[in-house]
Amino acid sequence: RDEPCFGYRGAMFDVARYFYPVEDVKRFIDIMALHKLNTFHWHLTDDQGWRIEIKKYPKLTEIGSKRIDGEGTEYGGFYTQEEVKDIVKYAADRFITIVPEIELPGHEMAAIAAYPELSCEGKQGTPRIIWGVEDIVLCAGKEEPFQFFEDVIAEVAPLFPGEYFHIGGDECPKTSWEKCPLCQARIRKEGLKGDKEHSAEEKLQSYFVQRMEKVVNKHGKKMIGWDEILEGGLAPSATVMSWRGEEGGIAAASMNHDVIMTPGSEGMYIDQFQGDYKINPVSIGGFTTAERVYKYNPVPDTLAAAGKGHFIKGVQCNVWSEYLYNTDIMEYRIYPRILEKQFHGYFVHADMAKGVTGANLLAFLERRLDNAQVRLDGHGINYYIPQPEQPNGSCNFVAFTDKATMTFTTNRPMKMVYTLDGTEPTPESTVYTAPFDITETTTVKIASVLPSGKMGKPRTILVEKQTLAPAKEVAKTTPGLDMEVFDGMYLSVNNLEAAQKTGKKQVIKTTRELTNQVPAPESMRGVKQYAAIATGYVNIPEDGVYYISSDLEEVWIDGKLMVNNGGEVKRFSRHDTSAALAKGLHEIKLVFLGHIIGGWPSNWNDGSVQLRKSDAEKFTPITAEMLSH
Ligand code: ACM
Ligand code: ZN
Repeated sequence: RDEPCFGYRGAMFDVARYFYPVEDVKRFIDIMALHKLNTFHWHLTDDQGWRIEIKKYPKLTEIGSKRIDGEGTEYGGFYTQEEVKDIVKYAADRFITIVPEIELPGHEMAAIAAYPELSCEGKQGTPRIIWGVEDIVLCAGKEEPFQFFEDVIAEVAPLFPGEYFHIGGDECPKTSWEKCPLCQARIRKEGLKGDKEHSAEEKLQSYFVQRMEKVVNKHGKKMIGWDEILEGGLAPSATVMSWRGEEGGIAAASMNHDVIMTPGSEGMYIDQFQGDYKINPVSIGGFTTAERVYKYNPVPDTLAAAGKGHFIKGVQCNVWSEYLYNTDIMEYRIYPRILEKQFHGYFVHADMAKGVTGANLLAFLERRLDNAQVRLDGHGINYYIPQPEQPNGSCNFVAFTDKATMTFTTNRPMKMVYTLDGTEPTPESTVYTAPFDITETTTVKIASVLPSGKMGKPRTILVEKQTLAPAKEVAKTTPGLDMEVFDGMYLSVNNLEAAQKTGKKQVIKTTRELTNQVPAPESMRGVKQYAAIATGYVNIPEDGVYYISSDLEEVWIDGKLMVNNGGEVKRFSRHDTSAALAKGLHEIKLVFLGHIIGGWPSNWNDGSVQLRKSDAEKFTPITAEMLSH
């Protein structure tokens, strides 16, 4: 006998940063239904794209649904109202209610690109082409934005029969409101005064949201918003979605407001990494395993003790899509983690009643997860299978001088199989039971195997016997590296060749100077991109095998290309290598290309090159003292 713990068992899907076609959304709904999740929170608008047709404002989709990405290609997509109706019906047929989210007053650059008069300054812009939060927001002093939202809500609300309408409300920078005479006039007119807890501008946001609450209510909906709507005074009947930890939810429930818990800090952000980032597709960061998602209890003890636990109406996992570049990666991030929420929201209650706790509970979880994955296979869904990982950062190139001890773990108990003869492993290959030694150059292929017999993606690791690369005898050196700078934006090193002659020469003390040659504001608006190549020597402190990691374009040592991040999102380096190096000076060449790939500007990086001696636990950056030319 089972019963749900919560009436609201949610999943949020962001289709603004990347757009997923109707079929993908339906598959998402199918899997939600299969696992008794009942509320689909559809994040339809953001700085990077407006994804729902609004008949009164056609430019929202003509202009606001498209952007020219950093790579120079146009990206776009939106749902027509007919498609929305179709999806709403599809969901309803599967007992799933959809909560639409139309963001206000921040995260609105796509709408402002379409209708610039909605912002304070009214300047023409474009949908944002990088991740992070846009500081151009809706003007709270003008009347147009209020009218705009009345009209938008009037079209959107009737498409969704559910009780909730989500107005966003998160992460709205107040910088433009502080400077805007109209916003300041509104603050004076409404008597909004800053106090110890909240600035006048935060109160202005609260004014904005409270006006919108009336509009939402007029359409027979309950307003829900991210926990920032608490700042400056909570709208009378608002439901709060607590994402910045549980504090917002606790505060709201204490005031007898309904709450949905979805704290990123407690594992509810399933766009985070779920395995070693060095062998996983790039993500926004963080780390959340299926187990962590499963263990989260959305009713904080303090609320339960105060008799306010019943204000927690449910729990939700959020799927933000900045790094979900395609359907495959999207599914790989979501599944199977999101299913854990079902196990939480639905079954744990029953588990508890059966007295299944602690280690027992987790064993139970593993068994259910194994079965759930078989069903995902039946639906052709891609999902994460924990891969064999190496301690202190996985690496597909392991240099050694005498022997390499190969140690592998998985972040859930998992059978691992491997070969040493270059052939692809099968479920019948040698089972990994303990670390093993390699003494000659060998290709290790290793994969996880699920109880169903399905294998995870095999890893191929070249384990190479090396002799220490000798240090250079250099008569005289001076501190720092020689750097050449090239104007312009380069997506790959290939086009850099042609630009060699225009280089300016200078000496840099630290690798940081590779990436900070032009000031780069958070918005990256108007940033002049450039490329830089730095050359000289790195002083290796002692003989040994070193692991090398960097988010620069390329790292060369002793004339050999060590780290090559060509074409990659320059974040969370996934192209580490290792090399046996003798103590002393080694030639080094570092290449930086200023560009935006996959929404991440490379000059948001610190330009560091990280080394880890094979017996050390942590990487440490190459310091100024180690560089000369
Ligand atoms: C959020 O993650 N900005 C709600
Ligand atoms: Zn304004």
